[in-house]
Amino acid sequence: MSFENLHKVNAEALEDAVVEICSSLEVDAAKLDELTAYFIECMEKGLNNTSVGEEKTVDKGLPMIPTYVTSLPNGTERGVLLAADLGGTHFRVCSVTLNGDGTFDMQQLKSKIPEEYLNDKDVTSEELFSYLGRRTRAFVRKHHPELLKSTGENIKPLKMGFTFSYPIDQTSLSSGTLIRWTKSFKIEDTVGKDVVRLYQEQLDIQGLSMINVVALTNDTVGTFLSHCYTSGARPSSAGEISEPVIGCIFGTGTNGCYMEDIENIKKLPDELRTRLLHEGKTQMCINIEWGSFDNELKHLSATKYDIDIDQKFSPNPGYHLFEKRISGMYLGELLRNILVDLHARGLILGQYRNYDQLPHRLKTPFQLCSEVLSRIEIDDSTNLRETELSFLQSLRLPTTFEERKAIQNLVRSITRRSAYLAAVPIAAILIKTNALNKRYHGEVEIGFDGYVIEYYPGFRSMLRHALALSPIGTEGERKIHLRLAKDGSGVGAALCALVA
Ligand code: GLC
Repeated sequence: MSFENLHKVNAEALEDAVVEICSSLEVDAAKLDELTAYFIECMEKGLNNTSVGEEKTVDKGLPMIPTYVTSLPNGTERGVLLAADLGGTHFRVCSVTLNGDGTFDMQQLKSKIPEEYLNDKDVTSEELFSYLGRRTRAFVRKHHPELLKSTGENIKPLKMGFTFSYPIDQTSLSSGTLIRWTKSFKIEDTVGKDVVRLYQEQLDIQGLSMINVVALTNDTVGTFLSHCYTSGARPSSAGEISEPVIGCIFGTGTNGCYMEDIENIKKLPDELRTRLLHEGKTQMCINIEWGSFDNELKHLSATKYDIDIDQKFSPNPGYHLFEKRISGMYLGELLRNILVDLHARGLILGQYRNYDQLPHRLKTPFQLCSEVLSRIEIDDSTNLRETELSFLQSLRLPTTFEERKAIQNLVRSITRRSAYLAAVPIAAILIKTNALNKRYHGEVEIGFDGYVIEYYPGFRSMLRHALALSPIGTEGERKIHLRLAKDGSGVGAALCALVA
């Protein structure tokens, strides 16, 4: 066979393989229907289930964690509060001034969590929380030095809200034990411990006992509360009143929360439910932990790449399978696994004779980050030059034009699946709570945060498209206002601390 023919055969074989992979990542209207119905079923099961710990057991439904937040801010709240926020990649300490008019001022110290706390198996819980304590002291030294000077009777206690963005068995507004780590952390001895106590102990050791951690919250709840605070004071642009109904995150991880009628939260102890209802509290915010949806893979489809990522590379095999198809932590890893497989099948990167010869970065799990994908997604440069440079820069990997075309198609399918799946919980909550029919026009607001939904090009419009295809239809989709609650978890934690 001539060189040209050989090249053509290879290019066609690659194209066929890519078409097949892309079609295995498709989520159509029928799948959206099926998943939405199952999501509602899992929400209901989860609300009735009394044990939150083992969400994997069949038929237990979603975690549906009660947060003890029973009312939403309206923008008139005032005060100066501290907030700390442990996310998947950063730890932030902030002081938040709520101005009472839907606005706030914030000072913050944001630190990238050092690799060793994420990847070193021998790191202990005490070491991690000691790091958090030290960063908090660094913040206080910079922004509130007066606190370090106060002694004895002068000490004015300051309330702090702690956003801890991992599944927690929350026992009150200010306490909760870690069920399991998700995203990158693996520190075993934190599981089962009260994370507020662990943090407060380290604050005390750092001479910061004037700080009282009075509220524990998830980042979705923080985002929701902060969205309610900032939107409370502002009428929507159409002069329409729209109601905040969901707080959600699409970043390193993904998750959401909403207000549920207390009488439906059967997992709350009867006595507590009766007391709350007696006090006139009718709703409570539920942290769904939707990353954990369908861990049994009853309805979610799984490609061989999904299975490999979960089983071989993820820190929590068998858990958070929905998150592993959606969140920013996994998008690049999916592409990396597909490329390694296409290479093993002799379809790309022929200059490397075998796996061992591949560039080190392509062989390293989680090395390919979603930021690279976001550049490829919209690359319209001649010969996909932008993609070529991105791959050279991030993976030290030279590519041919055919390979780059294949990569761009794969990237677009990976993200489309993520955005389409992201529509499932949103449609499910809107249907379950009947939010779209509550008022005459039924306009609703969704407060969101997270780098995928904020920055990934086209993510929001793909999500909207999927919402229109979902059971809520185009009518429902039009009633949804998606609003960014930037850095919401800091303001939200402060709002939580205010009412604690
Ligand atoms: C993971 C965590 C969850 C968090 C989400 C977004 O799914 O388990 O608690 O809200 O990431 O950060």
